[in-house]
Amino acid sequence: MRVGLLTSGGDCQALNATMRAIVQTLSYQTHEQTEFYGFLDGYHGLVCNQYKRLTKQDLLDGLIQGGTILGTSRMPFKQIDEPMEDGTRKVPAMIQTYQQHKLDCLFVLGGNGSTKTANRLREEGLNIIALPKTIDNDTWGTDLTFGFTSAIEIVTRYIDDIRTTATSHGRVFVIEAMGHKVGWIPLYAGIAGGADVILIPEIPYDMKRIVAAIEHDQTEGERASIVLVAEGALSKAEAKLTKKEYKALLAKREEPSVAYVIARELERLTDREVRVGLPGHSQRGGAPDAQDRLFATQCGIEAAEAALEGKYGILVAQKKGKMCRVPLDEVAGKLKYVNPKGEMVKEARYMGISFGDA
Ligand code: F6P
Repeated sequence: MRVGLLTSGGDCQALNATMRAIVQTLSYQTHEQTEFYGFLDGYHGLVCNQYKRLTKQDLLDGLIQGGTILGTSRMPFKQIDEPMEDGTRKVPAMIQTYQQHKLDCLFVLGGNGSTKTANRLREEGLNIIALPKTIDNDTWGTDLTFGFTSAIEIVTRYIDDIRTTATSHGRVFVIEAMGHKVGWIPLYAGIAGGADVILIPEIPYDMKRIVAAIEHDQTEGERASIVLVAEGALSKAEAKLTKKEYKALLAKREEPSVAYVIARELERLTDREVRVGLPGHSQRGGAPDAQDRLFATQCGIEAAEAALEGKYGILVAQKKGKMCRVPLDEVAGKLKYVNPKGEMVKEARYMGISFGDA
């Protein structure tokens, strides 16, 4: 067999672990008769035919090595039919590279945007196997994405560290978690880290409710309050705006991000000292945690198995703890949001965690 691999979009901790599992499984199952073409910097490498041949040796440290040995980049789907600066048409160029190397299939390790491009390549006749990468856990069709549990771990530890200094000083900390338009990371890390308030895009907030939650903490004798806010969180008023109006509002905003807006308002509405904490890109950094290594390996094995069976046009997924495959055209471009009425939110509310809405 001859197979291609690429990693696309924002990186995460378990990309190398996933590629290791693909390469190791296919090498073992085909008695070392598979050739691996690793395209560099995401779809860019496929467009420009920039690649390196991969072997098992390249991925010996894959389980513990974060980032991606292939490099990655973002190639927005919206611009997929716009030519490159030198006039190269992206889709025809990708098809040509695929055909030139006589690939049997292409493994795409990517998030939502990358999956849309993968589906486009499927429509053009390429054999695509997509794997669900992203710390955001927002890929439709799978309960889990690789990168997610490592990010939760990092944010949870970050809250732990902030809590000691917040307690010493009796401060409120507004910590901002990544997650793009969804709230999976703050929801899970907020519960694991014992946040007092969790703000996610799926549950628009009301400043008065956040203030009430913090004041309640104080009456309970808590010296510190932790507000964990998703980077995409928005207020009830903002949630009523059209997409265009909201974009215009963001463009005018003076604060660098939502955590600063909330911190500013908390300082205005309370007599507390407020600080902002940003784990930032460390959420995507470092080695994968054990659960991510396991899930990445399961994804890689499932993807390799699909390739051996000639089952293409799929996204490898996990549903209710079981590995499975879902048709790529059913998932491409769909976001998986937190259910505001789902179990996790209900449980958190039941123990008194505020979502800033009630
Ligand atoms: O999709 C992963 C992610 O980390 C999002 O959570 C975040 O919004 C975005 O990427 C940050 O992108 P960049 O690395 O381009 O700053």
